[in-house]
Order: sequence, then C-alpha cells, then structure tokens
Amino acid sequence: MLAMVAVASFAGAAVLSMLQVLPPAAPIHLALAAGVMPLIVGAMTHFVPVLSRSATPRIGVRLIPLVFLLAGVLAFFSFAESNQAYLFAAYLAFAAAAAFAVWIIRRAAKAVGKPHPCLDWYLAAIVCLMLALVAVSAMAWWPEQYPALRRLHLHLNTLGFVGLTAVSTLQVLMPTVLARPDPQAAARLRQHLKWALGGTVLVSTGAAWFKPLVYMGIVLWAIPLARLGSAWISLYFREIFKINGAASSLAAAYAGFCATLLFGVLHARGILNSADATLAFILVFLLPLVTGAVSQLLPVWIRPGMQSDWHAQVRQKLGAGGAYRAMLFLLGGLSVGLGWRGGLLLSIVALIAFLLQLAATIHSHVIEYNSEK
Ligand code: HEM
Repeated sequence: MLAMVAVASFAGAAVLSMLQVLPPAAPIHLALAAGVMPLIVGAMTHFVPVLSRSATPRIGVRLIPLVFLLAGVLAFFSFAESNQAYLFAAYLAFAAAAAFAVWIIRRAAKAVGKPHPCLDWYLAAIVCLMLALVAVSAMAWWPEQYPALRRLHLHLNTLGFVGLTAVSTLQVLMPTVLARPDPQAAARLRQHLKWALGGTVLVSTGAAWFKPLVYMGIVLWAIPLARLGSAWISLYFREIFKINGAASSLAAAYAGFCATLLFGVLHARGILNSADATLAFILVFLLPLVTGAVSQLLPVWIRPGMQSDWHAQVRQKLGAGGAYRAMLFLLGGLSVGLGWRGGLLLSIVALIAFLLQLAATIHSHVIEYNSEK
C-alpha cells in the first residue's frame, strides 16, 4: 500500500507542479513527505529484521510508517492551505522517528552474530530525519533563521535521510536482484558511513550557514560513491544494461544520486535554482530508486516467506522494460537539472508506464492469488 501511495504521490506531485496551482512546498511534500518518507520507513521494517536475522516486527512497529504517512499528508495540506499545521506534523513525525530509532537499536543489539553495518546507516538516516524535523520546529522559535533552517532541513532529508538509506540499501539489494553476491559490500558499508554521514553534515550546515563547507561535503560523499561505482562496474557491468529487470533501475538510481551531488554544486554556484535542483533530485534519483526497489520487493511484501514461481512472475512483469524506464527517468531528470523543464514529460511518461504495469500486475496476479486463497 505504501509503495502504491508513493508512486501515486509522485504522479500527483508532477501534475500539481505542472499546473502551478499550489505553493511549491505542497507538491514537494506530497512526493517526499507523504510518499517517500513512509515508504522508506516501511522498507526498513522489512530490511531491519532481515539484516539482524530476527523476527518480523510486531504490529506496533508495523504501524509506525502509517504515522509517518499521516504526518506527511498533514504537511502537504498545511502547505496547500498555507497554515502552520506543518509544525504539528513535524512533532508527530519526530515522535515516530524516535520510536523507530529505538526499535532499530534494540534489533541491532539482539542480532544473531555481528549486526549488519547497513543497520548503522539506517540509524544514521533516521537521526538525520529527526534533526531535519528539529530544524522545522526551530523555524518557529528562530524566525530570522528561517531560510537557513529550511536549507538545513532539506539537505538533511535529501542527502541524509533518503541518501543514506538508499546508498546502503542499493548495496544489499543489487546482489539480491542479480542473485550474485558482492563480497565487499559489508566491508564497504562498515568503512564508508563516516564519509557519507560527514559529507551530509558538511553539505547541510554549509548550505545553511557557510557555503565552502558544501564543497568539502560533496568530496566526502564522492568517496563511498566512487568505490561503489567501481565495485558494480567490475561485478555487474553486463547485467546493468539488460532491458528487463530491476538492475538497470537501481544502477540508474546510483547514477542519479551522483548527478544530484553535481546539481548541488551548480546550485551552490548560483547556476541552478533550488526548485529545479529539488525536482531533478526526485526525477533522476527517486523515481528509478522507488520503481526499481518496488519491482523487486513488492512480491515479497505481498507474499512474505517461501519464494515461488508466483514471485518470479510478478517480478518479471514489474521489471519488464526497466532499462527504458530508467533511461527516461535519467534523461528527464538531467534535462530538468540542466534547465529544460520540458524534460519532466519524459519522466511522467515513464512513471505512467510503471503505474500501468503495477495496476495490470496487481489485477492479474494479486487479485487472482487472493481469490485462490
Ligand atoms: C512531516 C514532515 C515534514 C515537515 C513538517 C516539513 C516541513 C518543511 C517546512 C516548514 C519547509 C519550509 C517550506 C517553505 O519555506 O515553503 C520545508 C521545506 C522543504 N522540505 Fe520538508 N518537511 C517534512 C518532511 C520532508 C521530507 C521527508 C523531505 C525530503 C525527503 C523534505 C524536503 C523538503 C524540501 C526539499 C524543502 C524545500 C521546499 C521548497 O523549496 O519549497 N521535507 N519542509
């Protein structure tokens, strides 16, 4: 459900951005706070037990993503109606994030064997989200710092909360998608969190208060990205260019994240405006990431447990033409990032194609499966 809400929220946000009927923060939060935030937390409720080799979470934890959804929807309406309800949304999301962080810490402490380093990345991502939400509350106490806090909030969220989760998850997801291990993934994750987190803190505080730090932060982020890129080229180069399947989308998400950092440099130098940089982040990075991850994970989320032909068939349907979609997302996002807003249409076409695939797959496979039950 969260996956479908996220994909639908992207479509809604794209249409609202084109119509320009609401303040820009409204469509941005429809996609990021109502769509992506709950989906990321929902995906973590799947990955944390897998990575800590522990049981499925209890209902209380499984409901936390819905609290995030509520907070995100509230933030959207608050921006759409230009009222202050976003403050309450920030408190609500902060409380949910704190509870979720405690759950991750407990699961890591109880892990069978050494806890997987990806859990540290998840915890760091949730802490970034919490700091980003504190920045929102601080806007009310410290109005003269509003523009700086807004920049702090948006970078902690995009590079920290979303970036840290994505870059770590991609490293465990790609080997699963291709059924071929990446023996260095855990070691890389263990060594590189300090660079990615350090980079996030420098970019966020730099964008808020002292621009030169931004460049240092981007250099730090480049370290884990360069190592991941070279590992994937040597391990998975051929598979990444296959027309069908999720691998090309995940690789496009990686390329999109690298492009986002470059757009950050252009933005810091005043060449790119902030609205286009944010839109490019969504198009070039989040769309391939979410569609790739959903094509791989949706079958497991719908039918957890033993993998069967049914899972393979659903994956095949959702992954069909994945490379074409990924290419359109990249082209659309890069065009917007380089200043041609018409590129948005390319991404919308690819997104509609995925929505139709999703609807057709759900209709033919999920409904059929439920009626068999
Ligand atoms: C309940 C959660 C959230 C609340 C209450 C919230 C609140 C805010 C507020 C008050 C602003 C300033 C708006 C303005 O100046 O017009 C803002 C801006 C922004 N936020 Fe959030 N936010 C939330 C979640 C997120 C998430 C999860 C992300 C990204 C993953 C995000 C990304 C952004 C971006 C990119 C901007 C700049 C928007 C623009 O340029 O107009 N926010 N947010």
